[in-house]
Amino acid sequence: MKCRSCREPAVIELRRHNAGFCAPCFLTYCRNQVVRAVEEHKMIARGERVLVAVSGGKDSLALWDLLLDLGYQADGLYIGLGIGGYSEPSGEYTRSFAEARGVTLVEVDLPGDFGYDIRSGAAADHRVPCSACGLSKRHIFDRAAVEGGYDVVATGHNLDDEAAVLFGNLLHWDVAYLARQRPVLPERDGFPRKVKPLVRLAEREMAAYCVLRGIDYQVEECPMSAGNRHLGYKDALNAVEERSPGTKAAFYHGFLEHGANLGAEIGEREREGLRPCSNCGAPTVGEICAFCKLVRRAGGNPNRRIPVSAGPVSAGPVSAGPVSAGPVSTGPVPAGPVPAGPVSAGPVSAGPVSAGPVSAGPVSAGPVSAGPVPAGPVSAGPVPADAALADAALATPAPGAKETAK
Ligand code: AMP
Ligand code: FES
Ligand code: ZN
Repeated sequence: MKCRSCREPAVIELRRHNAGFCAPCFLTYCRNQVVRAVEEHKMIARGERVLVAVSGGKDSLALWDLLLDLGYQADGLYIGLGIGGYSEPSGEYTRSFAEARGVTLVEVDLPGDFGYDIRSGAAADHRVPCSACGLSKRHIFDRAAVEGGYDVVATGHNLDDEAAVLFGNLLHWDVAYLARQRPVLPERDGFPRKVKPLVRLAEREMAAYCVLRGIDYQVEECPMSAGNRHLGYKDALNAVEERSPGTKAAFYHGFLEHGANLGAEIGEREREGLRPCSNCGAPTVGEICAFCKLVRRAGGNPNRRIPVSAGPVSAGPVSAGPVSAGPVSTGPVPAGPVPAGPVSAGPVSAGPVSAGPVSAGPVSAGPVSAGPVPAGPVSAGPVPADAALADAALATPAPGAKETAK
C-alpha cells in the first residue's frame, strides 16, 4: 500500500479512510485532525493559555505534543493518584516528556497534597474506584485551571473514548450526561472551558503517533479499571468497527451533528441550581461539594492550594507558527525535538519510513523522517476508528487493500 498523500510506501493503514499513510504524512494527518477539531468546535483561541491534563498515557502525551507543535501555549497537569505500581511510572513518563521539551508541568499528588488516594477515597465515600478517580480528577482540573489563570483545560479523550461513553449513555438513556458529552464545554459558573481536541483521532492512531514521534508512554491500563463498563462498550464498538470500518466515527459525529442538544434542557436545569461550595468555592448543588466530602471522609484535607504558576508557559522548543486549517500544509513537518532518555530518536532521514510491524509499547521510533512532507489532501471526512492498540498500529497494510482519495 502506498501513502495516500505522497505515494511513498505506507506504514499505517486507516481502514475507515480506506487509505494508508507514510510516517510524515501520518503525522501531518494527525495535526490536521486536531486543527480541524479545534477550529470546528472553537476550542482554543490563539494566545489562550491551555492546561493539558496529562496522565502519562499515549493520548494525553500525544495531545500535549500536538498542541505544542501547533504553537499553543500548553502547560501540563499531572495528578498522582496514589495507585501503587501504576502512578509512579505514569508520572515518570510525563516528567520525562516535559523535561525533554522544556515545558511546564504542574504536579498534584493526591496522597502528598490532599492526604488520600483513590483506593481510600473510594472506600470512604462508598464509590467504585473509577468514580472516586473521575470526581477527583475533574475537581483538580478545574481548580488548577482557575487558580493558575488558564483559559482552557484540554484532555486526551479520543474518538474511541467518546464513542464508548456515548454508547453507554444511550444504552442507559442517561440523557443528562449526553449534554456534557460535547467536545467543548464552555466556561461558566466558575468552571473553566474544557476541550477534547482528539475527538477526530482513534486510540490506535494515538499509539502510532507516539511510536513515530518517539514518545515513551505508560502502556499499562490502570489496575483499578478492570470491570469498568466502558471497556465493554469499547469492545462492542470495536467488533462493529471491525466488520464495517467507519461506523464508530459515523456514530459519534452523527451525535454531534444531530443529537448534541439531547439533554441540554436537563443540563441547563442542573446548572441553574449551582452555588459555591462553602469549603472550597467550587460550583456545586449542595452545601459542600462532592470532592470536599470525599476527601474529608477519607481523612484528608481538601483545602490544599494547587501549586500552579500563573506566569507564561516556559519557553521551550515550541513552534509558534500559525495553524493552518483545511488541507495539509506543504513544507517541512515541525517534527520538533523527540524526548531524550530511553527513546532513541534515531537519525533523522528525509526518506520514506520503512513499513513493517512495530512492537507495542514505548518503542524506539527509529529513523522517522522529518523531511519535507509532500502536499496532498488529507481526508477531511468523518473520522472513525480501529481496534487494538500499538501492536497493530503500524502493521504492514493488508495486501491488496484499496486506496481511494477521499
Ligand atoms: P481517563 O479518564 O483515564 O480515560 O483519562 C481521560 C483523560 O483525562 C486523559 O486523556 C487525560 O487527559 C486526563 N487524565 C487522566 N488521568 C490523569 C492524571 N492522572 N493526571 C492528569 N490528567 C489525567
Ligand atoms: Fe482512575 Fe484508574 S485511572 S481509577
Ligand atoms: Zn468543595
